[in-house]
Amino acid sequence: MTILVTGGAGFIGANFVRDWLCEDRGPVVVLDKLTYAGNLGNLAEFLEDPRLVFAQGDICAADLVARLLEEHAPRAVVHFAAESHVDRSIDSAADFIRTNVEGTHCLLSGALNHWRTLSPVAAREFRFVHVSTDEVYGTLEPDDPPFRETNPYRPNSPYSASKAAADHLARAWFQTHGLPVLTTNCSNNYGPYQFPEKLIPLVVRNAIRGQALPIYGDGRNVRDWIYVSDHCAGVRRVLEAGRPGEVYNLGGGQEKTNIEVVHAICAHLDAVSPRPDGKSYAEQISFVKDRPGHDRRYAIDSTKALRELGWRPGESFDAGVRKTVDWYLDHLPWVERIESGDYREWVKRQYEDLHL
Ligand code: NAD
Ligand code: DAU
Repeated sequence: MTILVTGGAGFIGANFVRDWLCEDRGPVVVLDKLTYAGNLGNLAEFLEDPRLVFAQGDICAADLVARLLEEHAPRAVVHFAAESHVDRSIDSAADFIRTNVEGTHCLLSGALNHWRTLSPVAAREFRFVHVSTDEVYGTLEPDDPPFRETNPYRPNSPYSASKAAADHLARAWFQTHGLPVLTTNCSNNYGPYQFPEKLIPLVVRNAIRGQALPIYGDGRNVRDWIYVSDHCAGVRRVLEAGRPGEVYNLGGGQEKTNIEVVHAICAHLDAVSPRPDGKSYAEQISFVKDRPGHDRRYAIDSTKALRELGWRPGESFDAGVRKTVDWYLDHLPWVERIESGDYREWVKRQYEDLHL
């Protein structure tokens, strides 16, 4: 009944593991390197729980991967571990190639070796769920239909190129070796435990500190926002009922421009934690130099996941953003704790360059 979750101390992985254990779905082994983005505190309530085994390590370490698979004989691998921030991939892509491409290769190879030792029944039931992103499909024009699973791959950033490469490896391990791999391509997640380098938590953090709210370019880039627990439910459905070798697009179905997102955050902050001077947090908005290669619009068509798996997202953007802002306000010590020296250095470099 055990599953092996990579990247389970990061944003989506931790939400996935927390939901899994709360619903008592069985034992979990988490393999996570604890990079700047990984934080054991995200799993704090479960660290003494006998259902959770935490292994700090690198998905590129073939021996470690083989040992965990042999020792715990998981029925599935759910692969979240990645370098995930587009701006960092523009700054330097090496870690992205290493973890996202070489790391995925190492896991697929380890899983294949393990799968070949299983009984016919266990081998038939084994699953490798590879968690990927809508960014592999590139960018959409305003009137284009949302991305479907059949859209061509056109990654534009070093991050999305590395994820696209990983997706191709995942496909090849199914086509060539028969390993029961399933891939999900999801849109922009938000919710509790997201590292404050990403737009929504960054804006909440900067707003309450009285700092500028940096918006790249004209702020009209569109993202399709999904509340993280909806994404996790989609990954669970793929694990339970998806067909090996298939790709499933998972999206929130809620397209917003960045400026709309930032205004929604400011409006809620104005209501629940007003500025002492009575002005709106929106006064802190500052338009800065655009992200190079900035994709204009993402949107996901989740029809296949609905039709085959009965999955659909449940959270509305308005309610989800309010919940998320409230969560950050209630967890300010969490934000402070995870802001290591490395993160402060990054913020300084990234936003000083943007003349903020
Ligand atoms: P995150 O950056 O918050 O977390 C990544 C986790 O992976 C961290 O805990 C980190 O320590 C771990 N990790 C990194 N390199 C590792 C390595 N070499 N070995 C082991 N562990 C390592 O990322 P996230 O936002 O939670 O994204 C999780 C996955 O979902 C990624 O694969 C990402 O591409 C995908 N995804 C993210 C989004 C989103 O909006 N955040 C949307 C679609 C898909
Ligand atoms: O679409 C799924 C992807 O969503 C995931 O695969 C990535 O891992 C995840 O990081 C996210 O990528 P984005 O680049 O879309 O997310 P980010 O939060 O960095 O930015 C969201 C939008 O906000 C994007 O258009 C860039 C813009 N932005 C971002 C930051 C950090 C700003 O305008 N200002 C900022 O300071």
